[in-house]
Amino acid sequence: MTDLTLTPERERLRQELAVAVRAKPVPTHIGIIMDGNGRWAKQRGLTRIRGHQVGARRVKTVVRFADKLGVRHISLYAFSVENWARPSFEVSALMRLIRAYIVRERNDLHAENARFRIIGRVAELAPEIIEEARQSTELMKNNTGLTLNLCINYGGRAEIVDAVKKLVAEGLRPEQVTEEAIARRLYAPDLPDPDLIVRTSGEMRISNFLLWECAYSELYVTDVLWPDFDEVELLRAIQAYQGRERRFGKTGDQIGGKR
Ligand code: FPP
Repeated sequence: MTDLTLTPERERLRQELAVAVRAKPVPTHIGIIMDGNGRWAKQRGLTRIRGHQVGARRVKTVVRFADKLGVRHISLYAFSVENWARPSFEVSALMRLIRAYIVRERNDLHAENARFRIIGRVAELAPEIIEEARQSTELMKNNTGLTLNLCINYGGRAEIVDAVKKLVAEGLRPEQVTEEAIARRLYAPDLPDPDLIVRTSGEMRISNFLLWECAYSELYVTDVLWPDFDEVELLRAIQAYQGRERRFGKTGDQIGGKR
């Protein structure tokens, strides 16, 4: 079994970086494209499924540490609308891992005061996943800590299409179709836009993740593969974010920034 605990040297680095990161504002909402499970496994002569298994265990360490750092929302891209096209045994394995994760982590997340929800085309998921997710969401609905958003059967374009369908069904007139009207009909209307989107394993793509919401997100891409993305890597991502100047379309002077 792959050990995900930090080596003493890595633990020292974690502590050192954490001091610097805690001294500045951390992102309120982090989205993560968890990529590279397959490559991680291949490098070790293991099956892709084994890579996903270790990737699923990695979710816990990252979510828990993000919570400790004061991150309020974390959105994890666990299964996209496009992922159904993978070999059926891999799709089944991913779904089993996701369900097992929801069940296994329920009590710990609740004890940590977290909230939980699925973001995506939920109705198309297997009934047992829908039911387990419903139980977790219900159990944690009055908690006040970090919100864990698992993006499953999620696609950014699908989300916008679904929001527009709601507008049409409600009979809005053209002048009523505003950015706010669309934003209010996304899967999680109360969720603030991500401040930071992290992608592991080097690809410089957004891959249909939170398309509407990522308009002004800072992007951070690391070559580290998802199963290796430990607490130190999360701190590095946040540190990179803290060094950015967010201008939201304004000039550096207008926001009192560096440039
Ligand atoms: C991409 O790696 C990863 C996925 C398609 C799924 C992410 C799933 C997990 C991390 C595990 C299950 C999730 C939870 C929440 C329990 P890839 O297979 O595309 O990697 P590759 O590009 O190296 O082949």
